[in-house]
Amino acid sequence: MEYKIGVISGDGIGPEIVTEAKKVLDAVGEIYGISFHYTEILMGGISIDKTGRPLTEEAVAGARASDAVLMGSIGGNTAASPWYQLPPDLRPEAGLLALRKALNLFANLRPALLYPQLKAACPLRDEIIGDGFDMIIVRELTGGLYFGERKTREMNGLITATDTLTYNEEEIRRIAKRAFDVARKRRKKVTSVDKANVLDSSRLWRKIVEEVAEEYPDVICQHMLVDNAAMQLVKDPGQFDVILTENMFGDILSDEASMVTGSIGMLASASLNETKFGLYEPSGGSAPDIAGKGIANPIATVLSAAMMLRFSFDQDLAAGAIEAAVARTLEEGYRTADIMPKLSEKTRGIRQVGTSEMGDRICQRLV
Ligand code: IPM
Ligand code: MG
Repeated sequence: MEYKIGVISGDGIGPEIVTEAKKVLDAVGEIYGISFHYTEILMGGISIDKTGRPLTEEAVAGARASDAVLMGSIGGNTAASPWYQLPPDLRPEAGLLALRKALNLFANLRPALLYPQLKAACPLRDEIIGDGFDMIIVRELTGGLYFGERKTREMNGLITATDTLTYNEEEIRRIAKRAFDVARKRRKKVTSVDKANVLDSSRLWRKIVEEVAEEYPDVICQHMLVDNAAMQLVKDPGQFDVILTENMFGDILSDEASMVTGSIGMLASASLNETKFGLYEPSGGSAPDIAGKGIANPIATVLSAAMMLRFSFDQDLAAGAIEAAVARTLEEGYRTADIMPKLSEKTRGIRQVGTSEMGDRICQRLV
């Protein structure tokens, strides 16, 4: 089989971590008889530097012409960066939002699991970790505050800014169905997170989720207010299977969930539409402070590539092989700086490696 992959290396650590994911894809392709053709697509800061815009028509066309898109990270994260002197719709992040919208990538799946090998990197106490945890956040990605009408203007002599949070029932229904479908293949529990004690959009959210839940009598459906969910994630993360939530809540909770797994450098993500097409990217950011140093953790990107094999290409065996190789590499004690245990906890056999060596080690463990 042959697949066309659009590659958005992006900014910061993006190019380094994408290089490793491609390395692992090519290695797994060798074993399973799959070949990948990569086409670089410009987006984010690098696109601003080269074209003056964070996303061009050409880039969108390039993504559409691909079977799937693999992305590193975009943006500079520092207010000092020249990209952030630009108006908001010309900044790096605007490119990503526009691409999600253009490709209708409404379903963002972010699995957060604790590898037993990385227990030492988890900031939670042992009794909270218990038997570990394995959840997936299903985040609505093309609606809500991110895409509502916004403006900044003067009202009654005061500068006033407005963002609007809008959802229609259809947008809620399709993401809810996706979450219940995901739950069916897992432990069959959906926790829908909203703020129904305050927001109209959340009350509609809850009503539609309840309607969808009736179509899935085999899946347990529970509602949780977002403030409580933020607390429960650090109090008892093991209670969650599938967390279903709107765009902004999902953005915040997925960073929190990733941190309790030990490092945001471990978290993969898939952004999907109604077809097999998807955009696959690590949940973490561009980490400009460590860019170019060869120390970034490529595992989230490698695992995102595995998600691509599974969701877009139905290559479950190759996907499983990558996931197993990552687990084995950790098992053997290889760690990037972000998941390295503290000196006092260092056990024999744990060894710190850079970005590229981590990629090589994973390739060597593929079977
Ligand atoms: C994410 C990121 C993006 C988001 C930013 C870069 C716009 O934080 O994918 O979680 O908020 O969706
Ligand atoms: Mg985020």
